[in-house]
Amino acid sequence: MKGKILEILRKEGDLISGETLSNIIGVSRVAIWKHIRRLQELGYSIESRPKGYQLKKDMDFLFSWEFPDHQKKIHYFPKASSTMEIAMDLARKKCPDFTVVIAGAQKKGRGRLKRVWLSEQGGLYFTVILRPKIPPALCPKINFGASLCLAQNLREMYGLDAGVKWPNDILVQGKKISGMLSQMDAEVDQVNCLNIGIGLNVNNDPTAKEPNASSLKILLGRQCSRKRILTAFLNSFENWMKDPDLETVIDEWKKYTITINQRVKIITTNSVFEGIAVDVDHNGALLLQLENKTIKTVTFGDCFHQ
Ligand code: BTN
Repeated sequence: MKGKILEILRKEGDLISGETLSNIIGVSRVAIWKHIRRLQELGYSIESRPKGYQLKKDMDFLFSWEFPDHQKKIHYFPKASSTMEIAMDLARKKCPDFTVVIAGAQKKGRGRLKRVWLSEQGGLYFTVILRPKIPPALCPKINFGASLCLAQNLREMYGLDAGVKWPNDILVQGKKISGMLSQMDAEVDQVNCLNIGIGLNVNNDPTAKEPNASSLKILLGRQCSRKRILTAFLNSFENWMKDPDLETVIDEWKKYTITINQRVKIITTNSVFEGIAVDVDHNGALLLQLENKTIKTVTFGDCFHQ
């Protein structure tokens, strides 16, 4: 209902009467008024006058009804501890495939390798819960698919030269704007859930604490719509997930990677490797040429370009 009301107000642009709204939607004027009042309480700038209602300013809200194609499977929290925690809880309670948890801000945003992910207002923080019918070993390829979709979305929407740093970070002009964390619950041969969490710096400024990071606002010099970005990503990623081409995804991802041919340092939970990143194999592992010219296959870790 709220989504429908907003859609009409947006299309109309001008003042529209409660009666017209109630005729279009097929509910009473009182019901319309109650929903409008709730939307106003939530922060929507809707003016109510004796002659009707008008949306004065469209704001970048992330409520579930702002994503009509995914509304039923979206859980939005203005502030959460971490969307990863909520997602795992929902997954264990058997939520459907492609359920999405969004937070306006996170108090305990998690990064890879137990780091913290700064999650102030203005950024985009979400986790998608997937139930792919593939063996656990193939799941990293889904992560590559997700980072590929996001990089393509950012390129198409903003003309940014968005590149992927192995395995799934997105960088623009050498600065990180997005990171991905994935968690899995699986049996030996079957995945129960694969939760992909993405943090994207949109209208926030992470540079005070993370000098090597940036945000869309800093790069483009203007505010960007988190809602538009998330809509584009959910559409493209859901579409890709309908029939994920796990044979070609790494080759596609390689078209956008900025890691190959770079001198890198890889930090894992218990080791550090340095060398030239010569390739990424068909499983998504990084092939690192060490000082002694041998090739080391690295399956996970944090990658620093040097
Ligand atoms: C990294 O680059 O270290 C990964 C960062 C992942 C951050 C996202 S924000 C949404 C989801 N919830 C979290 O707590 N972390 C991920």
